[in-house]
Amino acid sequence: MENIKTTEEYTGRIKRILITEEELQTAIQKAGQQISAGYDGRPILLVSILKGAFVFMADLCRAITVPCEIAFMCAKSYYNNTVSCGQVQITMDLEQDISNYHVIIVEDIIDTGRTLHDVAGILRSRNPLSLQIVTLLDKPSRRKVDLTADLSLFTIPDLFVIGYGLDCGEYYRNLPYIAEYDDTAR
Ligand code: IMP
Ligand code: MG
Repeated sequence: MENIKTTEEYTGRIKRILITEEELQTAIQKAGQQISAGYDGRPILLVSILKGAFVFMADLCRAITVPCEIAFMCAKSYYNNTVSCGQVQITMDLEQDISNYHVIIVEDIIDTGRTLHDVAGILRSRNPLSLQIVTLLDKPSRRKVDLTADLSLFTIPDLFVIGYGLDCGEYYRNLPYIAEYDDTAR
């Protein structure tokens, strides 16, 4: 981010920790057990949407104790306030035919829900055996389309958050916790 010039300024914008590393790991272990129990014996494909979900994907897949495959896709959204859906472009697609998989979308955060609404629609049209959505964070107060995750680990208020894969201007993805971003300094 071009207007952050020093490490001090970078650190100063981490307002407060909302979810600690320990809280994240406890919730992820529990989700991993739930998925392992629910999907045992089925062909599972975990699909995460880059880049935000890469850290959550790395931890969630290691909390799953049954056979599963992982895959990534990249989606770009072109939304303004007047369009509600259909504005997502897949910039990197899956390699596999998903019709023989139980697909679990692994997402970092659901905000307006528009990106995931579109991505889920695209994947559903490819006829997977089933399709579910797991999200680390959910901001239901911001929803613009009808979209509910099958499993949501943390519900958060309408705050801009960073860390654990989530960025602000591409920074902060490597923080090991979820924090509130302080934009009052801008
Ligand atoms: P939406 O649900 O289509 O509005 O968009 C969700 C995407 O917006 C997420 O995948 C994030 O990349 C980004 N996003 C939404 N809220 C936040 C936030 O609080 N911090 C960082 N990224 C966010
Ligand atoms: Mg994302």
